[in-house]
Amino acid sequence: MRNLILIFTLAISMSAFAAPFTNEGQLYESAPSGHTPGKDNHVTDSSNRFHHPGEDCGICHQPGVKGATGTTASDFTMSGTIYTDRTGRVPLQGAEIILRDVNGKVISMTSNEAGNFATKEAIGSDPATYAPGTDATSPGTWRYKSWVKYGDYVSPMVTIAPVGGMSAARMGCSMHHGPTGSRGALNVGGASTLISYPAENISYKQHIQPILLNRCKACHVPSDASPSATYPPAIGTTPASTVKYNGGLDLATYTPSTKTVISDKMISNMVNTTTPDSSKLLTTVVMGNTGHAGGAFWKTTDPDYTAIRRWISEGAKNN
Ligand code: HEC
Ligand code: HEC
Repeated sequence: MRNLILIFTLAISMSAFAAPFTNEGQLYESAPSGHTPGKDNHVTDSSNRFHHPGEDCGICHQPGVKGATGTTASDFTMSGTIYTDRTGRVPLQGAEIILRDVNGKVISMTSNEAGNFATKEAIGSDPATYAPGTDATSPGTWRYKSWVKYGDYVSPMVTIAPVGGMSAARMGCSMHHGPTGSRGALNVGGASTLISYPAENISYKQHIQPILLNRCKACHVPSDASPSATYPPAIGTTPASTVKYNGGLDLATYTPSTKTVISDKMISNMVNTTTPDSSKLLTTVVMGNTGHAGGAFWKTTDPDYTAIRRWISEGAKNN
């Protein structure tokens, strides 16, 4: 009984005291709900709403700051393009892009036929900003968490990246999420990596590695190559420590190179060939598990899931 009470108290204190915009608080938060999707869309019938998909909208639509040439494009506070997968081949219409700012305000946009979305809704500034720009109206001072949703699929943005840190502050998801960038295009959804997989003799190199590179490698590279971000211990204070996106797990190669940090876990630590369904490689990112910082990637019926499961049951070989 005493143990039960202890566990209960711990659970309460973890959820109550992990302030959202800190190192501890940035992980594991589920997407805000209860609002109307698309409530903050910048609504227009201009054909321009389909233009420049995938490009950095903020180069022209700069909020707060005008470009040196005095561009005439309107000021969006957030904009971008969303796709079905990281390669950015197919735009995704009707996806929802959710922001929750440092003051708790929820902003929701939905994507159009080109995958484009935009809003002019104000985003709150963190008084303790350390990103370039001292002006509280500058995007460099804004703090928000974000999620992208499509049907049952939800992807959180793990870290709250300082943005707008250019010579002229600007804003837009496509600034960092481009098809050719290390993070890949902004995407959500259950699109499988390969069109189909064989019924047996699944190969790591031909079938499994492409899935891990496509869907997991944005974060799960060796620790010494991992992207990271630094956050303040509390709102209104200075930066404390750095969080690595890889969470100590390297999924980039089957046998990690000599560059890999010794403490990193690897593919072989995440598979259970006796009971494949209990493999962490599958369970951690399965739909309904909200505990993974990188989000949920597949249902147990999705092709990528069944291919990995089959490969594990065949021995999870480096073939
Ligand atoms: C090369 C510069 C440039 C880029 C990049 C750009 N735009 Fe535009 N956009 C313009 C200009 C100029 C206009 C016309 C002026 C206006 O309406 O703001 C415009 C107009 C628009 C409009 C209509 C505005 C209104 O109020 O009716 C939307 C919506 C729009 N752009 C969305 C986007 C999105 C989303 C992106 C990124 C995927 C983007 N734009 C990228 C320059 C750009
Ligand atoms: C946006 C970044 C991101 C992406 C993409 C991502 N992850 Fe993660 N993952 C993390 C972080 C951060 C952690 C450590 C914190 C946690 O456990 O949630 C983690 C932890 C894990 C763990 C637990 C590791 C352990 O030590 O127990 C597994 C397994 C895992 N991820 C699998 C995957 C798989 C499989 C994919 C792709 C389908 C994936 N992740 C995609 C960020 C990501």
